[in-house]
Amino acid sequence: MKDSVPRLRRVGARVLLREATEADAKTMNMWQSDRAYWMGEFNYFDSEPVRDYVAELTGSDRLVTRDGGTLLVEHIVDGSLLGDVTWRPARYGPNERSKCWNIGIALIPSARGQGYGAEAQRLFAELLFDVTAAVRVEASTDVQNTAEIRSLEKAGFVREGVARQAQYRHGEWHDMVVYSVVRADLTV
Ligand SMILES: CC(C)(COP(=O)(O)OP(=O)(O)OC[C@H]1O[C@@H](n2cnc3c(N)ncnc32)[C@H](O)[C@@H]1OP(=O)(O)O)[C@@H](O)C(=O)NCCC(=O)NCCS
Repeated sequence: MKDSVPRLRRVGARVLLREATEADAKTMNMWQSDRAYWMGEFNYFDSEPVRDYVAELTGSDRLVTRDGGTLLVEHIVDGSLLGDVTWRPARYGPNERSKCWNIGIALIPSARGQGYGAEAQRLFAELLFDVTAAVRVEASTDVQNTAEIRSLEKAGFVREGVARQAQYRHGEWHDMVVYSVVRADLTV
């Protein structure tokens, strides 16, 4: 199954998105070691299992399937790793055409606030529209996550509303603001 998915890569002006390889695994494990620091408080879930990327990427395995996965965000000029983007299906009906992609992003602390997040999320939506039939890419974030809200808006995502008490994190329920970009937004 994994081998039938084309190798994913998209190059922007300052960052590129690419699949992880075995050479990236130790860095990704370091990010796992303290998610609250490396990936941010809004990505910290006490109950989330810690992934071992060294084990997952040993040999020729990939972090990408037909139903989602993880790509790395890399700085074009110096090749440094800035963080990752992930995607998974969300469904608004039982049929295949009612499936869209829900994306997430986390940049390491030193990479934040410089516009990389906006560029990466725009590239990511374009890539998903290119390689899949989906017409909708959505993202949701805590109503208090000012950086991600602003970053999504700069990336061309449209605010749709607030999903109340949608996420359980840090011992309480959080309201999430929902954004999307649809295929037609990028083709006009
Ligand atoms: C959220 C995130 C992906 C945004 O990417 P980014 O590259 O930092 O964001 P951008 O530089 O594209 O845009 C951020 C905007 O928010 C503003 N901002 C407000 N508070 C900010 C903060 N604490 N950190 C960074 N930017 C902040 C910036 O000024 C900027 O707006 P401007 O360009 O109008 O000045 C990144 O900050 C991150 O990875 N944070 C931790 C993980 C996270 O919260 N992920 C999303 C979970 S749903």
